[in-house]
Amino acid sequence: MEEPRASIVGVGPGDPELLTLRAARRIEESDFVLHAGAEPLAGFAIEIVVDRLRADIKVEGLALKPARGRDDSTVGYDRAARRIIELVNQHQRVVYLAEGDPLFYGSGTGVSERLRRLDRSFEFEVVPGVTSIAAAAARLKRPIAIKEEIFAVCPGTYHRDEIGAIVDRGGPMCWLKARDILPELIEALNARGRLADAVLLERVGRPDERIVTDLTTALELDLSYFSLVLVR
Ligand SMILES: C[S@@+](CC[C@H](N)C(=O)[O-])C[C@H]1O[C@@H](n2cnc3c(N)ncnc32)[C@H](O)[C@@H]1O
Repeated sequence: MEEPRASIVGVGPGDPELLTLRAARRIEESDFVLHAGAEPLAGFAIEIVVDRLRADIKVEGLALKPARGRDDSTVGYDRAARRIIELVNQHQRVVYLAEGDPLFYGSGTGVSERLRRLDRSFEFEVVPGVTSIAAAAARLKRPIAIKEEIFAVCPGTYHRDEIGAIVDRGGPMCWLKARDILPELIEALNARGRLADAVLLERVGRPDERIVTDLTTALELDLSYFSLVLVR
């Protein structure tokens, strides 16, 4: 089978050793690497793979704007998809980098959806990546979910008014985008006796990773967007 000329590649949560073999190969064999950061060599995803870039690979930061709420055209997925198609039409091998897994709340969802919308016959692949949840659980050596458990994943900023109700469901859970809902989450967990079950992990897998076991102390910290809370 012919190798795809366009790949949306998950680069994992931050540790370069958590790249898959396929992700590494696609990056190493590419002509162009695109990513969401604002500058060619600055951004969460590109920094994970910077040591793998051949000197002649061209790198473009597309300055995508993460949007809270429903996606709209200001995010830049359309621009990213158009650029991928343009480069493939110029016979370039193109990789679009997405942190973690591209299709798990990632920018790969928006870019792949736009690719299909712009050209139904356009061929591309998605290379899965290690999600931040898997990396966080491994870091803590705690199960994500076992046996009959139902594991809940909650992108916090979208569910600010339902935090208590979601915690009431019980079971293990992960709160993504945790920084922006931390006071409400702490209150809800505390009211239900589950605060001690929660751990916050920031920039897991990166050299500046932080793990906070007493969530109340995290309120004092200047946390990154790349923070999640695991509860079990
Ligand atoms: C838009 S979601 C992207 C998830 C990503 N595609 C994945 O597979 O992990 C962004 C959220 O994921 C979490 N996240 C992503 N990478 C992280 C990391 N290295 N450490 C902690 N949380 C991370 C944070 O909660 C962040 O707000």
